[in-house]
Amino acid sequence: ASKPQPVVAANWKCNGTVAALTELLAVFNDAKVDHDVQCVVAPAFVHFGLVQAQLKNTKFAISAQNCIAKSGAFTGEVSIALLKDLGLKWVILGHSERRQYYGETNDVVASKVHACVGAGLIVIACIGETLKEREDGRTAAVVIGQLAAIAKTIRVNDWEQVVVAYEPVWAIGTGKVATPEQAQEVHHIIRQWMASNVGAEVASKLRILYGGSVTAANADTLYRCADINGFLVGGASLKPEFTKIIAATK
Ligand code: G3P
Repeated sequence: ASKPQPVVAANWKCNGTVAALTELLAVFNDAKVDHDVQCVVAPAFVHFGLVQAQLKNTKFAISAQNCIAKSGAFTGEVSIALLKDLGLKWVILGHSERRQYYGETNDVVASKVHACVGAGLIVIACIGETLKEREDGRTAAVVIGQLAAIAKTIRVNDWEQVVVAYEPVWAIGTGKVATPEQAQEVHHIIRQWMASNVGAEVASKLRILYGGSVTAANADTLYRCADINGFLVGGASLKPEFTKIIAATK
């Protein structure tokens, strides 16, 4: 079976200066992307204006790194309505850093996914186990628990607006990339669970991204795995090398 359209997303996290991002966006604009791929850039909220003004490459969409469902008296937050008003269509939810440092439980993440798909956004929903969980043999249980919480809150059709990102926490920002075998094993578990619990068609169309120390040097091999449909990239997405990671999905 042929793979679904790949997605390659840059998660800039809480990084970047106006000067450095301006240079990087020029590189992204010049990148010759001649295959069917959805590229995504997720800047910090304060850099939306900069990216909207400077990113001209039509293969790219702009994404938020997080949001809340409701607008109003929520100091310091950014809501779905605010994102939509800027014309944004993508949002990353449930990143392990949100889960770890900001107390986002499976239920919090699931309710955000529910609200965002309901509002017509495309969600990159992040799941993944910690090193301790992997060592305890609980990888599948943890990842499926995170996925099941989301599946419980959305309808079958809503999955058209969801991309799943598998990011093992021990591989994020550590330089310790999962081996293609380790990544493929979990991606396969995710797709199988989706097929059995949501539907075969949804499962075959679902884009499952790998994230965690992806670089231009390891992206080719990872992308050859049957169930890997693209990447969610942190560190390497702040460098010109990101365009090579896009090319790896050709
Ligand atoms: O969301 C992407 C991220 O968590 C992976 O980060 O720096 O390991 O590519 P990095």
